Amino acid sequence: MKKSWAIRFWLILRSICNIWRGQVMVVVGAYWGDEGKGKVVDGIGRLYDIIVRFGGGANAGHTVFTPDGRKVVCHLIPCGVAWGKTCVIGRGVLFSLSSFLKEYLDIAMVLGGVMPVIYIDTGCTLFTPYHRLFEFWGETLRNGKIGTTGRAIGALAAFDKLRYGPKVGDLFSPLRLEERVTELYCLLLPIFEEMLERKEKGDEDFKDVVIPTPQEVVAQLLLEAQNLPKDCVIDTRSFLLKQIALGKKILLEGAQAAGLDSKWGTWPFVSAGDSVAVGASLGTGLPMYLITRIMMVGKALPSRVGSGPFPSEMWDRDLMIAFGEEHMHLFSPGRRRDGFLAGLREQINMGGNNEVHAKYFGVLGLELGASTSRVRSLGFSDLPWLRYSAEVNGATEMALTRLDMLSGIGSIKVAVSYKYNGEIFPPGQMPVSAFDLDKVEAVYEDWPCWEEDISGISKWRDLPREARAFIKRIEAAVGVPITVIGTGPGREALIRR
Ligand code: IMP
Repeated sequence: MKKSWAIRFWLILRSICNIWRGQVMVVVGAYWGDEGKGKVVDGIGRLYDIIVRFGGGANAGHTVFTPDGRKVVCHLIPCGVAWGKTCVIGRGVLFSLSSFLKEYLDIAMVLGGVMPVIYIDTGCTLFTPYHRLFEFWGETLRNGKIGTTGRAIGALAAFDKLRYGPKVGDLFSPLRLEERVTELYCLLLPIFEEMLERKEKGDEDFKDVVIPTPQEVVAQLLLEAQNLPKDCVIDTRSFLLKQIALGKKILLEGAQAAGLDSKWGTWPFVSAGDSVAVGASLGTGLPMYLITRIMMVGKALPSRVGSGPFPSEMWDRDLMIAFGEEHMHLFSPGRRRDGFLAGLREQINMGGNNEVHAKYFGVLGLELGASTSRVRSLGFSDLPWLRYSAEVNGATEMALTRLDMLSGIGSIKVAVSYKYNGEIFPPGQMPVSAFDLDKVEAVYEDWPCWEEDISGISKWRDLPREARAFIKRIEAAVGVPITVIGTGPGREALIRR
């Protein structure tokens, strides 16, 4: 039966209203990852019905908490799982079946045996041990190492572009799976042979290399596939479109960040996915016009793991890593850590140098990568980069996490512009493409901080005047309103403006 004009009118009006009220929102990272996107998604996720991961893979790491405080660690599964939301892994995700199953079972255990509702796109590129071997080969032999997370993200994205599978949907078609795995094996055979040759010659780097046959790889994948939740592999694009038509609210959760985006980040020191906001449309198949709210998340002090330029970096990265590895005990709560922090805070307030800042904030923020536990190198707030990030993401708003880290500090340096070839560019401008970021020098201003401990504050008006002024100055430089502010690790430690 034909729909009446009144119903058509009502449907169109509802669609317009939904788009206007931000029915589909995306959350992306502003710097080089680890900005606390998980906390932000977790904090605003309760307002949404479905949470979707659209990019990256098991290289991401988010720690979130269930409403009654149980800890959930997500790598592939969207953070909304902690709230019991329906979760979707979109086509843009580079999918490792073994990582997924481990995470799924771990989460189910934390949730007291409640199996999360998860859908995985049939078109996700599927990880095989061959991808990992290829990444290992590339990272071992190249001079300027990228410092990847070792999850074969680059190899998965590259072979996908070369039109080599397999895909998640192939798990239900054993012949096609074997064909695609064998195709990949044959493509890489010359490299595998050389790896084995190096191993035989006693090359230390290759001593652990084992190359499984395609039949072994397929058998393992098919065995694991039996543990997938029933009917979870679907065409997630049509599922999401149907849910949107039903009026459901969708939150698209990014992985990594603008600085690690394969096109707009600091190439080649990037991840392999589309981590800027437009990646949400590519990775889910949802039309761009539906995504009307774009929130980029930056932390008060940015961080970076792996290699690559970082203009406002506080201290030498290798020294920071060496310090972290030597003093790993300081990266977990305890009296020794408290004493260490009190001493360093005093030094900072007496004009301590960048090394003191790096050690203090690294330990204070427990800055270890969630996926690899690598020590993160820290930087000062970088306004030119945030401005660039807002532009490439098309951000409509911003979240600033970890503001509480600046409590008790007299003042902090903030990078307000870049100097390039002796010329200072106006605040907030990117002088060169992100490729050349290692050639710029950050120009700093000292901004006042505040005495009061602001951790756990959840109301804007409860922030000290200096903290509010700090936020407003960032907003003015970046040109985007800061609507969410993180004031601590807890779920309630979040200000919504
Ligand atoms: P890959 O994504 O494992 O290929 O690593 C490429 C670069 O991105 C390396 O410098 C990693 O440290 C970095 N990277 C990837 N994922 C994350 C993340 O979730 N947080 C921070 N850095 C990341």
